[in-house]
Amino acid sequence: MNILSPKSWFKGTPQKTSEKAAHSSAAFPQTRMRRNRGTEGIRRLVRENVLETQHLILPLFVEEELAERMPIKSMPGVYRETEDSIVTVALEAQAAGLGGIMLFGVSHHKDATGSDSMRAGGLLDRMIRKVKAAAPDLLVIADACFCEYTDHGHCGPLTAHGHVDNDATIENIGRQAVIAARAGADIIAPSGMMDGQVAAIRDALDANGFIDTPIMAYAAKYASSFYGPFRDAAGCSLNKGDRKTYQMDPANGDEAMRETAMDIAEGADMVMVKPGLPYLDILYRVKQTFGMPTFAYNISGEFAMLKFACEAGALDYDRAVMEMMMCFRRAGADGILTYTALDVAKQLNARRNAA
Ligand code: PBG
Ligand code: ZN
Repeated sequence: MNILSPKSWFKGTPQKTSEKAAHSSAAFPQTRMRRNRGTEGIRRLVRENVLETQHLILPLFVEEELAERMPIKSMPGVYRETEDSIVTVALEAQAAGLGGIMLFGVSHHKDATGSDSMRAGGLLDRMIRKVKAAAPDLLVIADACFCEYTDHGHCGPLTAHGHVDNDATIENIGRQAVIAARAGADIIAPSGMMDGQVAAIRDALDANGFIDTPIMAYAAKYASSFYGPFRDAAGCSLNKGDRKTYQMDPANGDEAMRETAMDIAEGADMVMVKPGLPYLDILYRVKQTFGMPTFAYNISGEFAMLKFACEAGALDYDRAVMEMMMCFRRAGADGILTYTALDVAKQLNARRNAA
């Protein structure tokens, strides 16, 4: 490959060795790559990717029976909101122009199946209604899973052997999705990694008249050690075991393509890759392969790494976070779920107002 020939960089146009490089004369010093970096005006003109507030989705935690919003130790600056304080944050998110929020419940009514999440008047139902009533223009994505509502912390009811019962879970997930849609959720996002969960949700939504409610599938979700802070935040640590029987092995890439293809075949309207930063290769492959609206989840452990590094003075938060978000965009993310969403939006909005 002749690196001086642009032809050789593009997919599907193999360079013949005999072919004379078309731009061999374009070597240094005729070509100076630095010319396109000389001023902010030029850099802006040739910039390949943009980041806007609508690309950011803020995950939020809502705890029932909580008197005051409570800071989460392992996630500096992130809180468990009360059923009242969630309104303030939702209004802030709406005013900042975020793409949406994703709601997670912190339940005080846990049982073996997570039944509170399938109940009208349960926490899932209440928190969505509360936010939609206060901030109707803010897109609300409902995370569809059971781990926040089960007493054992797994993503569905267990079999006698202590494994999550796939088929019982997907029967329930349809009911949970309908509760969320009825409460006003704009998008349903199944995160449990059960086989058949997207089809089960699609069937249940359609049967209940929610034919226009899209599904954002956590298509490639890995069994990651970076979820640690989330489990504190959502109060859903496992009593025993791990999630390796349903979430993916971090060693696998091709498998993510199969997972994603299946979710699309089952009716997913958008797909997601999770975690984010250590999995940008997967994000890139998913976007390139399927061309779907594709989202990345910049998860709790990634957020904690950034925050604690900044608190220690090792990194500059404002600059590091903007770079991270742009890198998600460059890798192919149409949007990013991130605990930094409001911070990033603040910078973007300040920049716009200054211009
Ligand atoms: C549970 C769920 C998890 C996250 C989102 N939904 C944790 C897990 O699967 O154990 C993690 C999000 C984060 O770490 O920020 N279905
Ligand atoms: Zn779960």
